[in-house]
Amino acid sequence: MDRLVLVERRTFLQSLAAMAVPLPAASCMPETYEPLEPAVPPLSQAAAENNSRLFGAAMNMQTLVSGSAGYETALRECSSITAEWSFKWDKIAPRRDEYDFEEADHTADFARRHNKKMRGHTLLWHLGMPEWADTQLAETGDWELVRAYIQTVVPRYADIVDEWDVVNEPIDITGGDNLRQNQFLRSFGKDYIERAFWEAHEAAPQTKLFINEYGLEYASPEEGQRRLSLIRLMEYLVNRGVPVHGLGLQAHLDLRKGAVYADGLHGLLRDIAGLGLTVSITELDVREQERSQSLLDRDRAVADEVQRYLDIVLNFHAVKSVTTWGLSDKNSWLATSRDGKADNRGLPYDTQWKRKPMRAAIESALSQGRPSA
Ligand code: G3I
Repeated sequence: MDRLVLVERRTFLQSLAAMAVPLPAASCMPETYEPLEPAVPPLSQAAAENNSRLFGAAMNMQTLVSGSAGYETALRECSSITAEWSFKWDKIAPRRDEYDFEEADHTADFARRHNKKMRGHTLLWHLGMPEWADTQLAETGDWELVRAYIQTVVPRYADIVDEWDVVNEPIDITGGDNLRQNQFLRSFGKDYIERAFWEAHEAAPQTKLFINEYGLEYASPEEGQRRLSLIRLMEYLVNRGVPVHGLGLQAHLDLRKGAVYADGLHGLLRDIAGLGLTVSITELDVREQERSQSLLDRDRAVADEVQRYLDIVLNFHAVKSVTTWGLSDKNSWLATSRDGKADNRGLPYDTQWKRKPMRAAIESALSQGRPSA
């Protein structure tokens, strides 16, 4: 038996032994992982074979429990991961002058150990700010607070984070200049955006820096204005020579809004690609409208919307990755209740970690979408 096989055999036995360790108390028992279904090629393989793309998912502390269904599914399906909460300011620095990197390090170590890329999500976000920092910015308007945070966090993960969402959700068409009136804008004006990009670039010159945005997929006048405002912001940053490399499209699809708007997405992607920027689909999931239909009908409606959306965006070379905002409905931020029935079914796996038609739609789009634009 040659060395490689010996190593593999030893590793396999070690992992069996590790899994033989008595599991924690039933109250926090992770789902035990059993390959309940015949294996299928991982989504990361379909992505890699299609224009060398990545497939990823948002991870949280439940899905990072070794040996759990979430852990094993992410291990198998993903070539990239994003921390759903652990990389945000309010998690990393919940109190002034205190950093808590435990969960962020745990997530980064999973990526390092299993050779996964990472998206850093996110540096500046109005909903990801600890209260003390919001208050201090309002009182002092001192940029040093922002600089110190970025210069502390970004270098720590420069080896594993490929892309940072430097500013999350800056667009608001009800705000002046169509920008969200967050504390950063109030304290520093529009310049906060480019200043944050320069800070992140200084902290990790090799890391790709992104704006990440939602509400861009449908034909409503509001979303049309959001697309236009976003294109204008990206043009402004690029024309000023700001180190911005890409745009994250969150892609929280919503069946209440009808079918995704192909012409609007084509125009957005064409203009963004025309600026020389890349695009990452960063938070793909689907909010359902109708939940009284059969589970199969509900799952088919979700899968059809995902297929429609991905068939459009994967047509563009500039689109380099697809990340779903979680893998199982069990942990989705869209879950409305815990009775297992009314929960939203907007992710590739159900609450029992069984594959759903949405997963097949993602695989189909990743396998077939040969970019032509
Ligand atoms: O883990 C703690 C728990 O210990 C504590 O008891 C509990 C009560 O405070 O909070 C738990 O942390 C929560 C965390 O999710 C983990 O579940 C935070 O309060 C909660 O604010 C956090 O919500 C996240 C939210 O962003 C705000 O950061 C969601 O999981 C996450 O899905 C959501 O993701 C956002 C993207 O970042 C941006 N785009 C929209 C998307 C959905 O809102």
